[in-house]
Amino acid sequence: MALLEVDGLRTHFATDGGEFRAVDGVSFAVDAGKTLGIVGESGCGKSVTSLSVMGLLPARIARVAGGSIRFKGTDLLTLDEDAKRDLRGNRLAMIFQEPMTSLNPAFTIGDQIMEGLIRHKKLNREQARQAAIAMLRQVRIPAPEQRVDDYPHQLSGGMRQRAMIAMALACGPELLIADEPTTALDVTVQAQILDLLRDLQRDTGAAILLISHDLGVIAEMADHVAVMYAGRVVEQASVDALFDAPQHPYTIGLLGSIPRLDQDQERLAVIEGSVPDPARPPPGCRFEPRCPFADEQCRAAQPDLRDVLPGHAVACWKAPL
Ligand SMILES: Nc1ncnc2c1ncn2[C@@H]1O[C@H](COP(=O)(O)OP(=O)(O)OP(=O)(O)O)[C@@H](O)[C@H]1O
Ligand code: SF4
Ligand SMILES: [Mg+2]
Repeated sequence: MALLEVDGLRTHFATDGGEFRAVDGVSFAVDAGKTLGIVGESGCGKSVTSLSVMGLLPARIARVAGGSIRFKGTDLLTLDEDAKRDLRGNRLAMIFQEPMTSLNPAFTIGDQIMEGLIRHKKLNREQARQAAIAMLRQVRIPAPEQRVDDYPHQLSGGMRQRAMIAMALACGPELLIADEPTTALDVTVQAQILDLLRDLQRDTGAAILLISHDLGVIAEMADHVAVMYAGRVVEQASVDALFDAPQHPYTIGLLGSIPRLDQDQERLAVIEGSVPDPARPPPGCRFEPRCPFADEQCRAAQPDLRDVLPGHAVACWKAPL
């Protein structure tokens, strides 16, 4: 059994213009000790998928409309708020894309890291403070004995990001969701943080869901990769298969099939056209308006994700290409 199994997840947002499907039938699984990378253009539903797993969707406007999210066999969607709070920050943790969404401006970063250690690990205040300082040192925050008493606004953006990573890792989570964990950090610190995540995984056997726009980071860290487009997974395979022989026209576009010396090859390539309006998706394949291979069949019906090669699933009528 996988540590995390997401099956047919649908997350809807209510807006003035009606309800739209930000996540529309997403399925994936991550084993203990493994990393699943999630890639896809801005707005394809990566963060909403993560927040759905964490049970942290904005309450009044978003709801999970279908599917299941099983953590060690238990469907998180069936748990009450108390049970979810017991899991969060303890066995499930998330590094958020926006550090300020998870750091409370009214408390010192030390207090915020200590909170989980006191609540979940039953440490006393002094033990928790020492553990928080050690965690800040691990994420390479200089002078952690002083910084532990800083408020979030006293830290630079990069330091806040590191403080949040310290908070997420403090209790040694079994599942870590890292949503663009290193985007705000310079290359050296980024490498240190990725090493730290790998150490955590080696020491604790944690599963990691890693969201990144940086294909270099995904190639280095992930065992498997899921490619999302317009609220759906369109391709999923081992990292080697995905990079060596991508099968979905969107993935091929993302990886930039033609190497260009004037482009930074580690970033996702830019594909012509734009993502469909989630409130009015095209009737057939959602990639059809941008796809060079599109035909009548693509306009008529939406392809489901299916194994086109062993362990390599693709949602495209034409796959394998
Ligand atoms: N709080 C919100 N209210 C309304 N719509 C939202 C909200 N959060 C996300 N959405 C919408 O849900 C869809 C998915 O957004 P999501 O944040 O998951 O994208 P993403 O893949 O994480 O993009 P990025 O790479 O920019 O972080 C988008 O259409 C987005 O506009
Ligand atoms: S189903 Fe058709 S439109 Fe969609 S990606 Fe495949 S070839 Fe392109
Ligand atoms: Mg996001």
